Amino acid sequence: MIVLPRIVLGIETSCDETAAAVVDSSRRIRSNLVLSQLDEHRPYGGVVPEIAARSHLDHLDKLVERALEEAGVACAELDGVAATGGPGLIGGVFVGVMTAKAIAAASAKPFLAVNHLEGHALSARLMEPLDFPYLLLLISGGHCQLLAVRGVGCYERYGTTVDDAVGEAFDKTAKLLGLGYPGGPAVERAAEEGDPTRFDLPRPMLGRPGADFSFSGLKTAVRHKAMALSAGDGAALEPRDAADLAASFQAAVAEVLADRCGNALARFQSGGGSGPLVVAGGVAANQALRARLAEAAEAAGSRMIAPPPWLCTDNAAMIAWAGLERLALGLTDGFDFAPRPRWPLEALGSLGSAAGGEDAA
Ligand code: KG4
Ligand code: ZN
Repeated sequence: MIVLPRIVLGIETSCDETAAAVVDSSRRIRSNLVLSQLDEHRPYGGVVPEIAARSHLDHLDKLVERALEEAGVACAELDGVAATGGPGLIGGVFVGVMTAKAIAAASAKPFLAVNHLEGHALSARLMEPLDFPYLLLLISGGHCQLLAVRGVGCYERYGTTVDDAVGEAFDKTAKLLGLGYPGGPAVERAAEEGDPTRFDLPRPMLGRPGADFSFSGLKTAVRHKAMALSAGDGAALEPRDAADLAASFQAAVAEVLADRCGNALARFQSGGGSGPLVVAGGVAANQALRARLAEAAEAAGSRMIAPPPWLCTDNAAMIAWAGLERLALGLTDGFDFAPRPRWPLEALGSLGSAAGGEDAA
């Protein structure tokens, strides 16, 4: 008997990317479309929630149509419809969830509300078979956490940031250095030309026990250096200064992340965990950070896995995949699911308790 792969449509609208993808349970990404709203937000130097929500509303239906078309899949052939149900900018999440519910209802398919962070957390399993448990470093624009991933819906948090997320620190640094928006890729590009040893920047939390992070002190130090270099008048930095400061900032972040991962790996391993260190989220697209984290994992007798950069930044393939994982376990959601602006991973609870769409937050 031939067992056909299950097919799920995924929708992502929690921030400034409108995305739709069709993925099947044999790990085939049949389509993966991401429409960035960068140009709409650029004049404001950051994401404006209302502009984001309206833009999702304008573009999502066409994008879904194209994703199905490219995949060569009709609604009737889907096994489920997944959408990011939170956490995120709530207007956008509403647009994605309502669209997914409508498609699911019209085609009589199960609806799956996916936690955006779980989308990132399980994305490495879309690329290759990867057993639970593994240690996850989740680094994005809104989050910086270390978690033991024990299964779908089953997370144990080891540490988190006490102030800013690491992606936020990249974005603010880019702004201070006049590198523009979005910040992360701009800092990475500038850092390639820079001297990481020129500026002595703080490494918050380095050498401390535990797996928490802090980035506000580093951000402030970057601001002071940038002001000193521009003689405090807010003038644009010389390209050489900007590159050196970007490289010094990135080196400080790399060292802190590696240190925290070292502690978390020790804790994970002492609890019997033998799985790898998985790095996910938008900041995991950064090649210099990946290289440093791979060294840290190796030093701990482990290895590092990071999805390809296009799967690290926000996309709908990871949402479709997380939907497939939940569908396989019967963890579908009711049409009464309410989008959640905040939805910590640990609130997903253990297997079973996450089913049915009841509010676990
Ligand atoms: O996961 P993501 O796409 O959206 C959130 O869920 O937040 O992450 C976005 C964050 C932004 O802060 C962006 O500047 C950062 O990821 N980012 C990077 C790089 N590419 C994206 N940070 C450092 N280096 C990069 N290459
Ligand atoms: Zn994300």
